[in-house]
Amino acid sequence: MKRLSTILDQLTISEEDAPAIRSLKQKASLQAIKAQFELSQAQLELMSTYFVHEMHQGLSRDGCTIRMLPTFVYRTSPKVDGEFYALDIGGTNFRVIRMNVKGGQLVSSNQQASRIPDEHKNGGTAEGMFGFVADAIGSFVKDDAKEESPIPLGFTFSFPITQQAIDKGTLLKWTKGFTTRGVQNEDVVQLLQKELDKRKIHVKVVALCNDTVGTMVARFFEDASTEMGVIIGTGSNGCYWERSKNIVKDKSLDRGMKEMCINMEFGNFDSHKLNVLPVTPYDDEIDHHSPNKGSQRFEKMISGLYLGEISRLVLVALSNNGALPKIFAEKLNKPYGLSAKDTSIISSDILPGLHCVHDTLMTEYGIDCTQASDRYVVREVCRLVASRSAQLSGMAIAATLIKAEKNGDATIAIDGSVFEKTPYYKAVLLKTIKTLVGENADIRCVLQKDGSGLGAGFIAAMVSHQK
Ligand code: GLC
Repeated sequence: MKRLSTILDQLTISEEDAPAIRSLKQKASLQAIKAQFELSQAQLELMSTYFVHEMHQGLSRDGCTIRMLPTFVYRTSPKVDGEFYALDIGGTNFRVIRMNVKGGQLVSSNQQASRIPDEHKNGGTAEGMFGFVADAIGSFVKDDAKEESPIPLGFTFSFPITQQAIDKGTLLKWTKGFTTRGVQNEDVVQLLQKELDKRKIHVKVVALCNDTVGTMVARFFEDASTEMGVIIGTGSNGCYWERSKNIVKDKSLDRGMKEMCINMEFGNFDSHKLNVLPVTPYDDEIDHHSPNKGSQRFEKMISGLYLGEISRLVLVALSNNGALPKIFAEKLNKPYGLSAKDTSIISSDILPGLHCVHDTLMTEYGIDCTQASDRYVVREVCRLVASRSAQLSGMAIAATLIKAEKNGDATIAIDGSVFEKTPYYKAVLLKTIKTLVGENADIRCVLQKDGSGLGAGFIAAMVSHQK
């Protein structure tokens, strides 16, 4: 990898270079980037085998890179009826949802979305953040909360949680840029319940789940062949059904064939030693400046929070070596200044002349990219970064299906902006899965929009059914 990154320095384009030489050096610079970002079959095979190994490790003891967290959600979809509520905190935005369920199927739902203000997210307190959320719940449930028994609420909290029961879970570590104090190592259900009780909001948090779990369960109530829930959005992670007897590290679980959902927290895959991850100097730089340095290295190569930044760092490197005009390095000098949304627009441009690339660069960043060859380089960089993300998440899905012995026929419920909004993403993802599990496998990757929240409502329904 080192040699590849230094090749850009060797290829520096100068004013004196004749047009043909300049063009040759530009081509070679892009190829050097391509060689770093495009993953070969051999790399994917090694990574997926190692991924399965790490899954086994995570099931046998705590503290592994893939955490493999038991969720206490069992593989069942009872035909419940009733009104259920869900709270979905996925990142900066959160939603409160009211769901009407009949015979285990969603009849109707409505929701209210809000944003967690920065002061609560960065450096704020648990009381401030959960108090803010409790106020939003209070204003949403208003009249319904007059019933005698409290309203049951399923709570999706999309961060690494160790659960001790379906309604009890401790935050292991903040991810996705959150630094709110007093939440790590605490039970988040209690933190929320305390703020609800303080405000006399008649709501009881009956279930806690991760967004991947909610996504899988929401689909599972409709389609019993759903084997995984995956998020490829601001963060990235997956869950799947595992036989209880294989969850060796939790002695309290009954040993048997009953399947429990495992929240893998695969964003942290191979973060300790970087044995197989194809990290580039750009990935190292992102990690170095992140609030959770050394963690979530896999997620930092896949998810929307970082894709824009990886592309920006590559474009700046190409500008510094002359393969792109100097203005790129000048205008794109701000960390996280290039959004994943724009890189997705740029990478989707298939118009001759790449006018969409030009217009996005011009209007959003003040870069007048006049040369078609430069626009091509920009588009290819954004594509390479997004395609690598699709290859890596496809590898993780394939490895999980292989471990669970579900690699012949499965539905994968996926949500998240990167998967939804990047046009060729699904094709690359599916192709990668197939090359690893076998071309004849019937693997269906479906977009499960808003599944994370709805799933929490379904889990609340499961819990009330069990009582
Ligand atoms: C991060 C969180 C994880 C979540 C994922 C997707 O990786 O740690 O819990 O599922 O983002 O939102």
